[in-house]
Amino acid sequence: MKRKPGSLIVGLDIGTSKVCAVVAAQRENGVEVIGLGTHPSDGLSKGVVVDVEKTVAAITKAIEEAEKMAQVNIRSAYISVANANVKGFTSQGMLPLRGRNVGIEEIERVVEAAESVAIPQDSEVLHVLPQEYILDNLNGIKDPSGMRGMRLEVNCYIVTIQSASVGNLVQCCHQSGLEIEDVILSPLASAEAVLNPEERELGVALIDLGGGTTDLVVFKNDAVKYTAVLSFGGLQVNNDLARCLHLTTAKAEWLKKRYGHCIPGEVMAGEEIEVESPDDGETVIVDHREVCEIIEARVAEILQFVNNEMLRKELDRHVSSVVLTGGTSHLRGIEDLAGSIFNRHVRVGQPRHVGGLVDVVASPMYAAGVGLVLLAAREQGMSRLAKAEAPLTGKVSRSVKNWLTKLIK
Ligand SMILES: Nc1ncnc2c1ncn2[C@@H]1O[C@H](COP(=O)(O)OP(=O)(O)OP(=O)(O)O)[C@@H](O)[C@H]1O
Ligand SMILES: [Mg+2]
Repeated sequence: MKRKPGSLIVGLDIGTSKVCAVVAAQRENGVEVIGLGTHPSDGLSKGVVVDVEKTVAAITKAIEEAEKMAQVNIRSAYISVANANVKGFTSQGMLPLRGRNVGIEEIERVVEAAESVAIPQDSEVLHVLPQEYILDNLNGIKDPSGMRGMRLEVNCYIVTIQSASVGNLVQCCHQSGLEIEDVILSPLASAEAVLNPEERELGVALIDLGGGTTDLVVFKNDAVKYTAVLSFGGLQVNNDLARCLHLTTAKAEWLKKRYGHCIPGEVMAGEEIEVESPDDGETVIVDHREVCEIIEARVAEILQFVNNEMLRKELDRHVSSVVLTGGTSHLRGIEDLAGSIFNRHVRVGQPRHVGGLVDVVASPMYAAGVGLVLLAAREQGMSRLAKAEAPLTGKVSRSVKNWLTKLIK
C-alpha cells in the first residue's frame, strides 16, 4: 500500500510493564491503525527510566515488531510520559480588549499570559489546557471568537514535568534511532482513546490503572480539571500475592491474570488452584478465594486512594461517572469494586475512535498508545483556523520540542 509522506503517525507508549508502538495512517475519514508492536518493559520503575539499556532494547523491539506488521519504516514517534514528577495547577491569563473583537491572536495571547507563571527550575511546561474563557465577567465561555468586550480572561490547567524524567525517555528513543514529535501526558492520551464527548461534558474521572503507576484525569465541561500520577499499580498486586503465597512474582502475575477476581464472594469457597513452587518446582496448592481476597485488598486500596485524592481536591461534585482503563482494569469484578468505592457508574474503557486493526488494539492496555495517535492526528490535521474553532482542545499538545532540543544536546 502506498502512503503519502507525512500521513504516518506513530504513538509510542513507554510504560512500566510494556512498551507499545501503535502505527496509524491518517485518512480523510479518520485514523486507521495499521500496526502494533509490544514488548515487555523492565527498564522503568514507576514511570521513570532506571535502566537505559533495557529501555532502549524494549523500545527497539516494539518498534521493529510494529514496522513488520505495518510494513513501514518508523523514524519518529509521539511519546507518552507519566510519573510522580508531573504536577498540575490552574493559572489565569488576562488581555485588555478595549472593545475589539476576539480573534485567533487574542486567544493565543491570553493563553500565553496564563502560561507565564513561575515554575521550579528543574521543570518544564508540558501542556497548557484552556478550561474556560471569561469575557467581561461572563464566565463559562468555551469559544470566545467573534465576541466583543473590554477584557478577555482565561483559566488554564498547566501541566509541568521534571525535565530530567522526560530527557531520559527522549534519550532512550534517540538511542533506538527515533526522533520525537512530541511528548504527551499519558492519561490525556488514554482519555482521548476511551472517553466519549458526553462523559467529558458531564464530568468524568478517567483512571488508567497501569503496572507501575495509576493515572487520573478529571474532565468537566469538556475541559481538564485535574491530573495526577500515583506511583503504584498492578505490580503491587503481584508483590502482595508473591509475598503472601510464597510465589515468584512471575507466577503471581500468571495467577492474577488467570484466576484473579476483585470480588472474593464471586468465586467458590474452598476451590483450590495448583501452582508450581518457585523453590523446587513441586506443585503447591493455593486457595482461590484467598487469592481474590489479596487482590481485592490491594485494588480497593489503590481505588480508595484515588477517591480520597478527588475528595481532597474537591473534584467530587464535578464527577458524574468513572472510566477505568490500563492493563489492571482487565481484572474481573473491578467495575463492581470501583462502583462501591466511587458510588458512581463505572465502566472499563477500551480504545475507540479508530479504524483499521481495531481488534488488535482492543484492550485497555493500549489506551495510551491509541490515544497518542489520535491526539497526534488532531494536531497534524488541524489548520490554524480549526485550532481556533476548538479553543479548549486545540492546544492539548503543547510542543515541548524547544526545550527537548536543549535538553538532549
Ligand atoms: N488480564 C489481566 N488481569 C489482571 N491484570 C492484568 C491483566 N492484563 C494485564 N494486567 C496487568 O496490567 C498491568 C500493566 O498494565 P499496562 O500495560 O497498562 O501498564 P503500563 O502502561 O506498562 O505501565 P504504567 O502505565 O504503570 O507505566 C500489569 O500489572 C499486569 O499484571
Ligand atoms: Mg501505562
